[in-house]
Amino acid sequence: MVKITSSTSRAFAFLVILGAVRPPKPPAAPDRRMPHFPRRFFSTSLSHLPPSPPPATVCCIGAGYVGGPTMAMIAQKCPHISVTVVDLSQPRIDAWNSDELPIYEPGLDEVVKACIGKNLFFTTDVEGAIAKCDMIFVSVNTPTKKTGLGKGKAADLTYWEAAARTIAAVSKTDKIIVEKSTVPVRTAEAIEKVLKRNCSDSTVQFNILSNPEFLAEGTAMTDLANPDRVLIGGKIEGQAGQDAVDALAEVYANWVPQERILRANLWSAELSKLAANAFLAQRISSINAMSALCEATSADVSQVAHALGTDSRIGPKFLNASVGFGGSCFQKDILNLAYICECHGLKEVADYWYSVVGMNDYQKSRFVKRVVSAMFNTIRNKKIAMLGFAFKKDTGDTRETPAIDVGRGLIEDGAKLAIYDPKVSEEQIAMDMEGLTDNITCYKSAMEALDGAHAVTVMTEWDEFKAYDWKKIYGVMQKPAFVFDGRNILDHEGLKEIGFIVYALGKPIDPFLKSAEGA
Ligand code: UDX
Ligand code: ADP
Repeated sequence: MVKITSSTSRAFAFLVILGAVRPPKPPAAPDRRMPHFPRRFFSTSLSHLPPSPPPATVCCIGAGYVGGPTMAMIAQKCPHISVTVVDLSQPRIDAWNSDELPIYEPGLDEVVKACIGKNLFFTTDVEGAIAKCDMIFVSVNTPTKKTGLGKGKAADLTYWEAAARTIAAVSKTDKIIVEKSTVPVRTAEAIEKVLKRNCSDSTVQFNILSNPEFLAEGTAMTDLANPDRVLIGGKIEGQAGQDAVDALAEVYANWVPQERILRANLWSAELSKLAANAFLAQRISSINAMSALCEATSADVSQVAHALGTDSRIGPKFLNASVGFGGSCFQKDILNLAYICECHGLKEVADYWYSVVGMNDYQKSRFVKRVVSAMFNTIRNKKIAMLGFAFKKDTGDTRETPAIDVGRGLIEDGAKLAIYDPKVSEEQIAMDMEGLTDNITCYKSAMEALDGAHAVTVMTEWDEFKAYDWKKIYGVMQKPAFVFDGRNILDHEGLKEIGFIVYALGKPIDPFLKSAEGA
């Protein structure tokens, strides 16, 4: 075993345990800090070296959408590292240990199956796992605060703080703590205080890193396997901080090219995550704003997006007009960012970012208004089929899905919703639409949901919706049969030929709709 003697050398020792570096021979020199070693020590090709020391252990607190896939990827790419994922929720851990994983993510099952029980473990023994490992990833939820100061804007760090207190209570050896959850800027500083003040052994050193996750749900495994970049923030102005950053960089270097591993100071890394999500969401709100103008002017938002996207300075991604962005990150992170701006007296900057969320809300309510006005201003007791409930395709996640707000809006106007989503359970929909379930029926097949419906609203861009037999669907729906495509994925011209009245975001308005709306 490697004996750890100081906080500075501990990060290096971690690398040694990982098998990523070899201790210097002889280890007589007192200064064993990594930057003084030649690059070859950081090589991941170790075939010329003696057999690897015992595998190192890392653990991750929080077995959710981020923690689960990220740790599965580390386990797959680093067979010499033992990875333990812990969570307070017994059902969640049981699901990870079963054939039915708690989250749907393409490619995840295969990786978990290949590693589980070998170097990937899921357990509720939070304290045991923390005590044993050198590096702890923290990937707990950080929702928007519901009450108190910063209500509706600031990030709620209750779970983070609880995790930090547990780490402090059980740590007997130095730990590198890696922030994975999105957190307000300078959270690391606060967490460090909690750790230091709550650890009974004052010799234990905690080195905190920010390593924000940029994976998107639905493509998490490919994003993790081939990231645009890995960002590691640490106290790089000091040696211990640099060593800790290097230790984490070595984990990623097992599969990520060195040039894609970016190093930054702690606060820059924390802010970069909020900024990245704000920029991405801002693009969607911008194209959604354009979609409203396109409808008013008979321009076509897809053509506008294409024209914009072919400008290499703008680029083609994230320019799909939609009924609104959802997901656990965008809204939460923008509100958090804006709140931080407010706290620094930057009201104008805060307002700029709030407007991105405001535009998203506008897009959802605009969609509801279109449905109601198109259907002769009354949807009372009309069956409206909702295709898709997840916030995007290839996930069963419904956090902040636009389907919730649109569904609420339609029900407020008296509609009876018939919901079908290939991956979202009836129980989840019932939780999300609490208080409104009398007006909702969930179906196991799209055809059942569409049977007898007056209208269909497309809420998620699932590929299967494009492949449906829309002629057959037309046959089972009430007439006039309306399609409201909130994702612009269907063949609108083909649908019109069949006989549907079609509303598509940002597209020239169908004359039937114009007359119905009195436009
Ligand atoms: C996002 C970030 O992309 C990711 O880097 C971060 O780690 C977490 O937050 P995620 O929310 O999983 O990922 O999915 P993303 O693909 O970004 O989509 C977010 C929302 O925007 C979805 O509702 C999606 O449908 C919507 N969207 C996306 C659009 O409406 N139009 C687009 O062009 C792209
Ligand atoms: P994300 O999308 O960021 O991964 P999730 O909500 O899917 O967020 O997952 C966060 C997980 O963290 C949840 O399963 C929750 O039970 C777990 N968790 C929260 N606090 C703690 C804690 N103190 N110790 C262990 N697990 C925790």
